[in-house]
Amino acid sequence: MIRELNDHEVNALHYELLLKDIVATAEKLPPFPDIVWKVMPLIRNMAPIEEIEKVIRFDQVITARVLTLSQSAYYGRRSKISSLQDAILVLGGQRLVQVIMIACAARYFQGSVSGYNLNERELWEHSVATALVSEKLARRLRLKKALTIYTASLLHDIGKTVLDLYAKIYLHSSLSEITNDGIDLIDMERKALGIGHQELGELIARRWQFPPEVVLAIGHHHSPDKSPSDKDIVTAVYISNAIVNGAKRDENGHESVRLDEDPYFIRMGVDRAMVDRFHGELEKDMEEIRLFLRG
Ligand SMILES: [Fe+2]
Ligand SMILES: [Fe+2]
Repeated sequence: MIRELNDHEVNALHYELLLKDIVATAEKLPPFPDIVWKVMPLIRNMAPIEEIEKVIRFDQVITARVLTLSQSAYYGRRSKISSLQDAILVLGGQRLVQVIMIACAARYFQGSVSGYNLNERELWEHSVATALVSEKLARRLRLKKALTIYTASLLHDIGKTVLDLYAKIYLHSSLSEITNDGIDLIDMERKALGIGHQELGELIARRWQFPPEVVLAIGHHHSPDKSPSDKDIVTAVYISNAIVNGAKRDENGHESVRLDEDPYFIRMGVDRAMVDRFHGELEKDMEEIRLFLRG
């Protein structure tokens, strides 16, 4: 005899299938381009520019993005860049790798993220802003593994790009509207969809074969203390994200959270003056880069 499932069992089945579907969608994301990993050893070994150019040119879309981004006021400040060779020469080492990383990441952030109440491009701009702040933070605090911190900062919310599809389907109101009621975003994601954007991001980064520190930092960027290792790297991503989020003020111009009172900020020695300086610089930096991000 076939027994009917009770409500609890139907619910459990629904969540199991939903979670399987979410993970399957994340696994179907196209692989992260391996240009960066090919370019890095060439830079390290001071290979001829033509050799580096050959690797980047292999992908036309990324080549075009690297060129326009290099020509933005933010990156091309020092001299006029009119070709890919100029870009390689002018940007050099770390900055060239950062530009390639942004050019590679851009494709995954196309389209709106309406499940999170974000306008089209808002999540992408937030991600790039977090990466730019992380670069300053790493320099200011003389942190090791600056490129690792930068990469994790750029991709920290990658899980949202996949979860958003489900938030739109399975939730009547957007996740960020729900969190305005005081419920923690991550808890809400877990309750409604069976997985949070941190865990999903971690899964995607692991699948893309990013270094383990990048995977951990993406997976714990809202709760660095829960990371089993590399807490400094994870905390740097947490702080960069919080600074960018903190840049949003209410109608009276007040910050919603006093960042300098946050224990992670105190522990890393990030004070009020530093936060204000990063905020000030970030507005100008984003202005200089925004045209490319929307292009
Ligand atoms: Fe996040
Ligand atoms: Fe974020």
